[in-house]
Amino acid sequence: MANVTLTINGKEVTVPAGTSVLDAARGAGFFIPTLCHDPNNPGYGGCRICVVNIKGARALVASCVTEAANGMVVETESPDVVEARKTIIDLLLANHPADCLTCDKNGDCRLQDYAYLYDVRKSSFTGEKHNYPIDDSNPYIRRDLNKCVLCGRCVRTCEQVEDRQVINFAYRGFNTKVAPAMDTSLAESACVSCARCVVVCPVGALTYQNLAGKARTYEIRKEQVTCTFCEAGCQFD
Ligand code: FES
Repeated sequence: MANVTLTINGKEVTVPAGTSVLDAARGAGFFIPTLCHDPNNPGYGGCRICVVNIKGARALVASCVTEAANGMVVETESPDVVEARKTIIDLLLANHPADCLTCDKNGDCRLQDYAYLYDVRKSSFTGEKHNYPIDDSNPYIRRDLNKCVLCGRCVRTCEQVEDRQVINFAYRGFNTKVAPAMDTSLAESACVSCARCVVVCPVGALTYQNLAGKARTYEIRKEQVTCTFCEAGCQFD
């Protein structure tokens, strides 16, 4: 496969053709934040937190869905990039509960990490916030859609579970949310409780039911267990 050579933050980088700017930059040791990007799924380009500056481009581009090209000159932390990321975080926080201290995802939340990193202490926007009831109908998965950033990682992961596709985007505009068909609870849906969606959720919208209010990620010790959901005996950490 042919290679392409580009310049990222002044460093010459050579990657196989077809590599995204995001992967090229990360491979070269540069940090780019991501919310919707999932390495196990094709590029999505929904959240725009991964924007970078490409010399000659008319606007900032999402690095996760932009292929690296010969001669490209990329900046990952230029002032306009930082300003754009701050605005995205600001907008996300405008409709997000300010309960990090008591959130099960505290310390393991990308939105929290990025807000800290880009020094967005609180949203500068005021307006209506969602007030969805928490869906704790499933014995394993807890859904708090008030914390959802609509990155769609759960939707695309659920699509990979054979014969499922249980959840998808529903409604429009401010009312957009991720839900099972007919906006039922998880317990009423065809969800098989594989919890892949919990694993990929970058924020506190999807968490483990049995840990709710009991432990944050950094308080958990991982052990290998055998799943008893079916006869296969799958091992998980
Ligand atoms: Fe690239 Fe979301 S991570 S648009």
